[in-house]
Amino acid sequence: MSAIAGRLRKNHKHLTKWAKKQNLGAFRLYDKDIPDYPFIIDKYNDKVVIWHRLKEIDSDPKKADHSLELKDALTELGYPLPKQIHKERFKQKGKIQYVKVQATGQTEIVEEGPLKFRVNLFDFLDTGLFLDHRPLRSKLLELEEGMKVLNLFSYTCSLGVAAAFAGANTTNVDLSGKYLDWGKENYKLNGLNTFHHSFIEADILEFIKSHPETYDLIILDPPTFSNSKKMEQDWEVQKDHGWLIRKVANCLRPGGMIIFSNNRRDFKINHSELEEYIVDDLKGTTIPDDFRDKKIHQTFFIKRK
Ligand SMILES: C[S@@+](CC[C@H](N)C(=O)[O-])C[C@H]1O[C@@H](n2cnc3c(N)ncnc32)[C@H](O)[C@@H]1O
Repeated sequence: MSAIAGRLRKNHKHLTKWAKKQNLGAFRLYDKDIPDYPFIIDKYNDKVVIWHRLKEIDSDPKKADHSLELKDALTELGYPLPKQIHKERFKQKGKIQYVKVQATGQTEIVEEGPLKFRVNLFDFLDTGLFLDHRPLRSKLLELEEGMKVLNLFSYTCSLGVAAAFAGANTTNVDLSGKYLDWGKENYKLNGLNTFHHSFIEADILEFIKSHPETYDLIILDPPTFSNSKKMEQDWEVQKDHGWLIRKVANCLRPGGMIIFSNNRRDFKINHSELEEYIVDDLKGTTIPDDFRDKKIHQTFFIKRK
């Protein structure tokens, strides 16, 4: 048995049991565990999504391409080729990565504890559900009923769904109407009435400048870069998070809190721009157990002093 086949078998056995106990239909099966096999594999129901890092293979032509071996190992594990969805993700270089790659329209529902989400494993680079935020969704399930929550950069509204499921009044904002429609579907899947929640299509960098409402909790989970055609200027999380957090904080009720998260691996929070705030670094406590990569995101709780 090849090294990758052995590792996959071991992970699969352990994680399947672990996921079953928590009713998780999706988890990270393999997270670049073996350096020679730099893949990421996520299991969604009876399928696996494999992320290849093209850049790494291209940059060193002598480096072996183990993808055939991987395909065989996954087949042996019970995922024949139609159940393997291979994706190639380029390193983000200032380009938004939410592009359509196919048009199958094939979707399915994945369960996560008491929640359900619709995912599309084929048509986009991302599936509609970011698995690294599972612990954050779980924390949101504990919110007090009636809290007013603003979910910025909402994507398919999975964080909004968790908050709404706990009984919060939620407002989701995203640049993409398509993702907001997908988000509404996710609300309905969970028995949540979309008329009691808001879905706003807007550029958050503009929206936040003059938004008149205030909230108990604001979720701020921006992409590393943002440069859609719909926007006037590019945005970069390392350079621009300070002013965005200060603007967003204008929409906080007294005692309210911002949950700020981002995926930039070398991100450093700019304390000098946030002197009026208590910034609590959650230091990896929001990384799921099935992720070996503890730098997948950083999360902070931010309150006014
Ligand atoms: C990293 S995802 C957010 C993930 C989401 N919080 C979750 O947990 O599922 C980034 C989202 O930001 C949106 N986006 C990017 N730039 C934006 C902007 N300037 N205003 C509003 N939304 C934006 C994209 O459309 C995408 O849905």
